[in-house]
Amino acid sequence: MAKFLLYSFLFIATISIILSSIPHKATAGEADDFLVKLQRKQLQEKLTHFRVYWHDIQSGHAPTSVQIVKSPTNTGFGQVNMIDNPLTLGPELSSKLVGKAQGFYALASQEEIGLLMTMNFVITDGKYNGSTITILGRNAVFNHVREMPVIGGSGLFRFARGYAEARTHTANFKTGDATVEYNIYVMHY
Ligand SMILES: *[C@@H]1O[C@H](CO)[C@@H](O)[C@H](O)[C@H]1NC(C)=O
Repeated sequence: MAKFLLYSFLFIATISIILSSIPHKATAGEADDFLVKLQRKQLQEKLTHFRVYWHDIQSGHAPTSVQIVKSPTNTGFGQVNMIDNPLTLGPELSSKLVGKAQGFYALASQEEIGLLMTMNFVITDGKYNGSTITILGRNAVFNHVREMPVIGGSGLFRFARGYAEARTHTANFKTGDATVEYNIYVMHY
């Protein structure tokens, strides 16, 4: 008898857990049919840190950063570059490629080189292959550390929020080429 009660209890408990994890289908005709509350009990938020090196290559036959808007002034203010910059594990361009930074940056400050960065980091290797992180922020390139918000993500980075710290590794003022270390701290599910 006790065993039967225990099994019945476990059966009912299992069914209710399964049912509570299924999104409810709204019934037709109600005004708020299109809004469905989902359970987030089973979701465990994670904090991930990763470090990559971002290569802005403006020189040579295959630049990954190209000027698409020219500044109308001689200060550079208003210039826009479109990028498809390699992201590598180590500071050398020849080190393992783990993704690309796709987007653009614009010279948005009249007082200094202060960039508006708008980029998606697309991971192309390992567990996170195909997942993206979106960074949008201000980058005063002559500061030692620049912090930019992570405002979202996709794939394994759904619901992402966090921040990125950028530190210049090397910069060549003749060619415009630069390598920047990015440390990214991101909360996601
Ligand atoms: C990443 O995913 C793409 C598309 O699914 C696949 O073609 C590629 O081989 C994957 N790369 C690695 C290193 O797993």
